[in-house]
Amino acid sequence: MTLPTVFITRPIPASLDALSAVATVEVWTERQPPPVEVLREKMAIADGLLCLLTDRIDRALLQASPQLKVISQMAVGYDNIDIAAATERGIPVGHTPGVLTNATADFTWALLMAAARRVVEGDRFTRAGLWQTWEPDLLLGPEVSGATLGIVGLGRIGQAVARRAIGFNMRVLYCGQHPSAAAPAVNADFVSFETLLQTADFVSLHVPLTPETYHLIDDRAFSQMKPSAILVNTARGGVVDQAALFRALSQGQIAAAAIDVTDPEPLPMDSPLLTLDNLIITPHLGSASQQTRTKMAQMAIANLIAGLQGSPLPHCVNPEVYHACP
Ligand code: DGY
Repeated sequence: MTLPTVFITRPIPASLDALSAVATVEVWTERQPPPVEVLREKMAIADGLLCLLTDRIDRALLQASPQLKVISQMAVGYDNIDIAAATERGIPVGHTPGVLTNATADFTWALLMAAARRVVEGDRFTRAGLWQTWEPDLLLGPEVSGATLGIVGLGRIGQAVARRAIGFNMRVLYCGQHPSAAAPAVNADFVSFETLLQTADFVSLHVPLTPETYHLIDDRAFSQMKPSAILVNTARGGVVDQAALFRALSQGQIAAAAIDVTDPEPLPMDSPLLTLDNLIITPHLGSASQQTRTKMAQMAIANLIAGLQGSPLPHCVNPEVYHACP
């Protein structure tokens, strides 16, 4: 019997033994993502695809993949995949929700604390030989304990961020399309987007990138925030208008920001954002704990195997493919 063929777009941190037992596996081993022409060539003969958020899987690629039965993304977000086109083709798309919630919430807090307490500036200051003595007013930042945290999007990660704020005795506000049943357990109060922006000392973004959230934080949003506010983004770069972020940070509309995601990724080295001292930028590390990345890879393999075997994916983005009329 001929085994199905799968293409994995980068080495992943989990054993491929179970997958290799049921499929012929090819892994793209370069550090950079496969170019689109390589993806097209591989997907043209693949039954299964395991991809990352750096791979753009659009309608044209899907149309050129006649055998494709399953797409498994090693990430919870899937804005790089044309889900509507996959669904039209009856292709289930898997993702990795839940396992990266704590790692991403931890990293959000790492950025929040680093921006508030000027950790990166302090490191640069020390390495530059500028540390001459203890100074009463050196690199002061706002107190985190007791401050107000505004969470935009109280999903799994937003809730985990809010839960951590309890230990800091913070007031937590959140906004979203509607109040969340999970809010009382994490001590969070529902407010409008505008109230959140106007009230929060720290604004943390936890919404997926969709046409509705694209550039949600724009000039207008920054103009409503406190001059002392700090913005943290561990969601997707496209949620923030980066030109507006530059204006807000350089003109003192907000005090500082810390972003783990940019648009595009990587951020071009000539981006004006890189000239700002009051901005911390990290290379999309939210889920980057060893344990979490292994769990994400294992979950992506489980989704892929299920799809190859014609079983429902354990974590499917578009379960409607299973209910389509014949
Ligand atoms: C995801 O899974 O969507 C994250 O952005 C990866 O860290």
